[in-house]
Amino acid sequence: MTKTDNQQQSAILVTGGAGFIGSHVVRHFVQKYPGYRIVNLDALTYAGNLENLRDVEHAQNYVFEKGDIRDAALLNRLFEKYRFDGVIHLAAESHVDRSITNPLAFVETNVLGTVTLLNAARDAWKNNFEGKRFYHVSTDEVYGSLGEEGYFTEETRYDPRSPYSASKAASDHFVRAYFHTYGLPVVVSNCSNNYGPCHFPEKLIPLVINNIRQGKPLPVYGDGQYTRDWLWVKDHATAIDVIFHEGRTGETYNIGGNNEWKNIDLVRTLCDIMDELLGKPAGTSQQLITFVKDRPGHDRRYAIDASKLKNELGWEPTVRTEEGFRETARWYLENEAWLQHVLSGEYQRYYEQQYQ
Ligand code: NAD
Ligand code: TYD
Repeated sequence: MTKTDNQQQSAILVTGGAGFIGSHVVRHFVQKYPGYRIVNLDALTYAGNLENLRDVEHAQNYVFEKGDIRDAALLNRLFEKYRFDGVIHLAAESHVDRSITNPLAFVETNVLGTVTLLNAARDAWKNNFEGKRFYHVSTDEVYGSLGEEGYFTEETRYDPRSPYSASKAASDHFVRAYFHTYGLPVVVSNCSNNYGPCHFPEKLIPLVINNIRQGKPLPVYGDGQYTRDWLWVKDHATAIDVIFHEGRTGETYNIGGNNEWKNIDLVRTLCDIMDELLGKPAGTSQQLITFVKDRPGHDRRYAIDASKLKNELGWEPTVRTEEGFRETARWYLENEAWLQHVLSGEYQRYYEQQYQ
């Protein structure tokens, strides 16, 4: 979708905009593109938190709609009401550990939900796809697990190994199938692990920060030698902006942070940052590190080759690691109320207070 043609009259549907990454994407688009009407559709599952969007909730060009992407009738109504030109699809069940406990929930939202949304876009756009775009946000986990060497490129064969990554892989295949079969103008990105403000505190980085605050053990799975490529979440939002507007239809772009960390090194670094921020003697928090039972099917290493995105669209990550980790830790310390509301469940009442 080109900015110049549509900036003054475009309506964009963002799904999952109350979640971690979605809230950064919504804020980025609402603030950067006053001419776009950004409609955030979110079911507000345990992971959806409208407090993430407090600063933009009254913006003229922002609308929140509570609902489920599996609800075809609702989607049809929304397409009718807002006449969307673009979809940025982030809504998903996203936590690997939860997918191991309850795989069906992942099939329901990530596969059925995505296909329902594809159908709604196709129906609404009536096979006249001029100026339209369906952007599917996916993960590098679809590519499986790397050894010590090598990187995931857009050509890497899919090899998902957790119920989460299997469900995302299936959704990616459906999105591409709609491009090939119906000509739906899709674009897909597969991104590495994100970190930053508003990350739900059961994921590694916020969990470690929060447990250090509370003096609780820091659970490191297995031998701690698992490697992830960490991307600053606001860099993900800018990558999505660039790909949404300038990515080639039908293409896939890998997004990464150039920023590989073994889990144990990351946890130790977070300990050092937190000691410094909390004014504790160096080494205090590292004593909380506890090696625990490994995650079943735990992927050893993820690492992204994002050169296609850099060479074609000029995007690169901006934030250097330690700086980003420090900013994240500081954000959690300065946003005690946000964290308390999540931990107590209070955030789930925000919708009623705010919207009803
Ligand atoms: P998240 O779990 O924080 O947020 C998901 C959001 O989707 C929540 O607001 C939730 O309420 C909403 N949602 C869930 N089921 C829904 C449904 N059926 N209908 C409508 N809304 C629903 O997830 P996240 O970490 O922000 O990830 C967003 C997207 O980015 C996902 O598609 C994920 O696969 C992808 N991704 C995440 C990462 C990461 O590191 N977190 C990395 C790469 C890609
Ligand atoms: P996570 O944040 O769940 O992201 P993903 O599984 O999508 O990569 O986990 C990041 C890494 O941290 C992963 O290798 C699992 C590991 N991990 C721990 O060692 N301890 C924990 O308590 C958690 C939640 C994750």
